[in-house]
Amino acid sequence: MSMKLCIIGSGYVGLVSGACFADVGHQVICVDNNQRKVEMLLRGEIPIYEPGLEELVLKNVAAKRLRFTTSTEEGVDGADVVFIAVPTPPQPDGSVDLSYIEQVAREIAAVLKKDQYRVIVDKSTVPVKTGEKVADTIRRYSKPGVVFDVVSNPEFLREGCAVPDLMKPDRIVIGGNSERAVAMMQKIYEPFMAPVLVTDVNSAELIKHAANSFLALKISYINAVARICEASGADVEKVADGIGMDRRIGRNFLNAGIGYGGSCFPKDIAAFIAISDHLGEPFHLLKEVQRINAQQRERFIDRLRDKLWVLRDKRVAVWGLTFKPDTDDVRSSVAIDVVRDLIAEKALVTVFDPKGMEKAVEFKLIEGAHLATSALDAVKDADALVIATEWKEFSAVDFSRVKELMHTPLIFDGRNLLEPAMVRALGFDYTSIGRA
Ligand code: UDX
Ligand code: UDX
Repeated sequence: MSMKLCIIGSGYVGLVSGACFADVGHQVICVDNNQRKVEMLLRGEIPIYEPGLEELVLKNVAAKRLRFTTSTEEGVDGADVVFIAVPTPPQPDGSVDLSYIEQVAREIAAVLKKDQYRVIVDKSTVPVKTGEKVADTIRRYSKPGVVFDVVSNPEFLREGCAVPDLMKPDRIVIGGNSERAVAMMQKIYEPFMAPVLVTDVNSAELIKHAANSFLALKISYINAVARICEASGADVEKVADGIGMDRRIGRNFLNAGIGYGGSCFPKDIAAFIAISDHLGEPFHLLKEVQRINAQQRERFIDRLRDKLWVLRDKRVAVWGLTFKPDTDDVRSSVAIDVVRDLIAEKALVTVFDPKGMEKAVEFKLIEGAHLATSALDAVKDADALVIATEWKEFSAVDFSRVKELMHTPLIFDGRNLLEPAMVRALGFDYTSIGRA
């Protein structure tokens, strides 16, 4: 059954969710307070790069199931269910800044009408107990007689495969304390034919932070194992395969590298630490996860320094700027941190990324770096090549040509993208993570 949905915040989470909901037949209106973004969307331009998203948006706009507006009133007025998908950025102490959520809760409260039941859904990643605060705020700022329920419905999509993640999720978590609200949420998700877990609001909120922290824990675990591999001559890829074949463990998220980044893991782990501290149950294990992650990059730069001796005035090509492949997102990217570390040491850095150049320049993240037009262009006369993001197309580059173009054939592969035997056979001095 088709339902009328409003989504406030048309970023990665809001826009992809809106497009997918429309695609299964719901009537969706996406609200965003960024006028430029809404104008782009109204012109049929997609402000972010996400495989499959453009087709999905255009198709559903044409079918009149997906609309855009800057007006919260217009969005909320005709909707049965209102999703909140605005940012929840970190504060300097790691705790979450909930001011956008609070502001949106007040905006919703101001336009809710008497006797029109609405379900307000928190899709943003928020600390446990935020649902209670959202409900209090709406109650305080709305007219008497307004009826609503607040639900937590965390989103687990990964950038780069957000559309399939949303269309075919492992599970859908619905946290609600009211049967009426939960029943409406179940209807929305019926067409997705995915397993649904119904919980109370607090548990649903905790699931998101606990899930992301666990995935980060897996990454730091394998990175710590990679160090033992380096010290002992073992191969971390083989170790990960061996432990990952145990179905209780699983091979996913056991890829060693220069650490996790992106707009979610670093902030969510910091938030979970802050939440647990606040609740009087400090989560020391997660502090170690963070520490290992930060050290991965430092150790990588140390190894580069060991080989090149002095980094000053050395030409270093860096392939990759995005926090992972198949996205243009450069927020909290370890690749960007590597570029900045090298620039700080006065190395002459040339960068190339298939999708991330524009945003890295726009946000002034790589000032001082030279911009190459291709992977091969970047390595001309380079003393070393650093691979910081594992774009598939980098492994398809002709490495004999890379060797001809480089000044000295040194490769530092921070993502274990290349086959050591292949590059070494071509005469490269090759360093990777946790592999002899
Ligand atoms: C964000 C949060 O970072 C994440 O924690 C949460 O799970 C979902 O929302 P994302 O979708 O990646 O993730 O954020 P972003 O791409 O920055 O998009 C947020 C959108 O909200 C922006 O388009 C922004 O203009 C809009 N916004 C922000 C509003 O419409 N109203 C506001 O008050 C604030
Ligand atoms: C993550 C969660 O996976 C998703 O469920 C949640 O909704 C948002 O946060 P995302 O940030 O898009 O998604 O990317 P993800 O694929 O999880 O990768 C995060 C970081 O971990 C990247 O920097 C990636 O390079 C790194 N990573 C991932 C590793 O270093 N090793 C791995 O094995 C997997």
